[in-house]
Amino acid sequence: MSKRVYRKKEVTDEMKERAKELLKELTLEEKIGMIHGNEIFATKGVERLSIPPLRTSDGPMGVRAEFMPDSFTRIDDNTDSVTYLPCNSAVASTWNRDLAYICGRTLGSEARGRGKDVILAPGVNIKRSPLCGRNFEYFSEDPYLTSELACEMIQGIQENDVAACVKHFVANNQETNRLNVDTVIDGEVLDRIYYPAFRAAVQKAGSYTVMGSYNKINGEQGCHNKETLKDTLRDRWGFDGVIISDWGGVHDTDKAAFSELDIEMDCSSDFDNYYMAEPLREKIISGKIPEEVIDEKVYRILILMLRLNMLDGAKRSKGAYNTSDNREACLSIARESVILLKNEDLLPFDPDSTKKVLVIGENADRKQSDGGGSAEIKALYEYTTLAGIRMLLGGNARVDYCLGYTSNTRPEHRNIGWQSESLMDGGGSRAKAAEEDEKLRKKRRELREEAISAAKDGSYDQVIFVGGLNHNSDMDCEGNDKRDMELPYEQNELIEELLKVRSDTVIVMQAGSAVSMERFADKAHALLWSYYAGMEGGKALAEILYGEVNPSGKLAETLYRNLDQCSAHALGEFGLDERVEYKDGLYVGYRYNEKYNIVPRFPFGFGLSYTEFEYREPYVNTKEGYISCRVCNTGERNGKETVQLYLMGEKDEPVKELAGFEKVFLIAGEEKDVKIYPEKLLPGRRYIITGSGDSIRFEVECEENIDT
Ligand code: BGC
Repeated sequence: MSKRVYRKKEVTDEMKERAKELLKELTLEEKIGMIHGNEIFATKGVERLSIPPLRTSDGPMGVRAEFMPDSFTRIDDNTDSVTYLPCNSAVASTWNRDLAYICGRTLGSEARGRGKDVILAPGVNIKRSPLCGRNFEYFSEDPYLTSELACEMIQGIQENDVAACVKHFVANNQETNRLNVDTVIDGEVLDRIYYPAFRAAVQKAGSYTVMGSYNKINGEQGCHNKETLKDTLRDRWGFDGVIISDWGGVHDTDKAAFSELDIEMDCSSDFDNYYMAEPLREKIISGKIPEEVIDEKVYRILILMLRLNMLDGAKRSKGAYNTSDNREACLSIARESVILLKNEDLLPFDPDSTKKVLVIGENADRKQSDGGGSAEIKALYEYTTLAGIRMLLGGNARVDYCLGYTSNTRPEHRNIGWQSESLMDGGGSRAKAAEEDEKLRKKRRELREEAISAAKDGSYDQVIFVGGLNHNSDMDCEGNDKRDMELPYEQNELIEELLKVRSDTVIVMQAGSAVSMERFADKAHALLWSYYAGMEGGKALAEILYGEVNPSGKLAETLYRNLDQCSAHALGEFGLDERVEYKDGLYVGYRYNEKYNIVPRFPFGFGLSYTEFEYREPYVNTKEGYISCRVCNTGERNGKETVQLYLMGEKDEPVKELAGFEKVFLIAGEEKDVKIYPEKLLPGRRYIITGSGDSIRFEVECEENIDT
């Protein structure tokens, strides 16, 4: 509970000297080869100087499968299946820095184990609207929570001699027209909402690389934007690492050459024609662009390689993929990522007295790993919830399964061309309405009837529904935003009917972004929220349902009742093609709800436990810069609690903003002092300490005259 110490690998004089020496030896052709993709996921090396190519891979949930050098066709041998980690939204809902670090360490080790130099993660964009197709890849609506967890992840990744690539810089909060949409956004809003995670990633955690975004920011493309890349990232924040374009994010040779961008990547195999390839070489030869502009880029790439021990036969970490430790890491994260939203004395179930269970819902037995866009994972395995329940209960209980509804498409991956096609059609458009034809409606009616009639059978000890979203291309998926926040595939009808015949049906939502639960949230007696929680996710969920694990996840995003409660839609603009003005300003997520007294279905920070916690004795220690309180586990089970500290705003400020948090484990009856260190204690300002959402609250005031 003391302040976190970040280890950052600074550039030494020796590295600088060596990079300069190598730079002198390189020909123009060789330098050009190093600053653009020469394979879909790698640059060109310089064999005669033993400079290897820079090998990259997605992404946030594990290392992506191996592709042919010049296309998105998988090599598809049996050696590139990997550990499938929980997505960043799941990591965020653990509110556990240690787990974020473990997640990063695992990801870095897997990446190095697969021979990668840069892992294209983490994604730290702010969840501005529940409709964004890539929300599952991001942590939270809150910049502080995102920063804290992303820094841990980056530290973990980079311990393995692999570079993190924090993405997508910046304000990449929608997929609609993602290649060209102009995000119009105020400087203060950037500074306080959209920049902090990137700033922390480079300044605190020392991320070696940053990925420029596809979208424009205030009129200029993210990959050659002066305001964001030069004025902010390099000049204000002193970033000395490498800036990599998003795949196809470069639009102009001159602009790219004169910008701070170092490496151009794309989805096409026409490598020589990339903007920073032949076209740039010709301009340099004809004297239109001075060679020095690319020298700076190559210098930074060489420094990166030195930091990663890639040159001069340096001793380098070899990583390890598919180890049991890595799988154990997945399980630990998944266990803490599940959020108990409602529990009226229903959970946990007793496994010993369970003889017959009915599980309903497509997501109960749907593998989610191999979808979602560039975050797709060729997982070594993935336990679904159904598998988790059967594994936990063993052979003495009967677990029946009904599909209940269908999305009509099992994972629709393996359109090998989707990534390059997504650039051709302008980088994604608003989701096309799925063809809900009569045949499909009939099929769903039949599935519903089958599930309802099974649920009516009085012999089941428990009925568990697992639904939500998936990675289909109109759901939680790169390249498209969702049409609305309704629960799709007629699940509302199914859940309503289920609750009529079995009011004790447990409802589990598995999704990567908020969906409206208005049609059943009041009626259900137990409600759980899970993100795409990795290869061990189904096991973790079963352990929570049957009480082997006490849930401790808290929402890292607001679960709205409807879209009107979300500021991006109520105040701002979202999902437009040309220009999206962020009129919602600072009022993103709970900042908006608090300011306008809007009560969402479940607030940011909310999450229940099977035990109870009491908070006592709030205390401000201005000298050491922390605020503390005593937390007591007054219930009958051991459990973890996340204590949250919010800074109260003054006049025109957001009502409250997250300023610190700490997660503690308390055995039943135990109590502990929990100290929270905000970035700095502000004199004369008020803070609140709270547990789950708004339920436990203290207000404390910091003295006026403190030495900060
Ligand atoms: C995505 C990036 C990803 C890259 C490489 C792009 O489509 O926006 O997040 O890292 O592809 O696959």
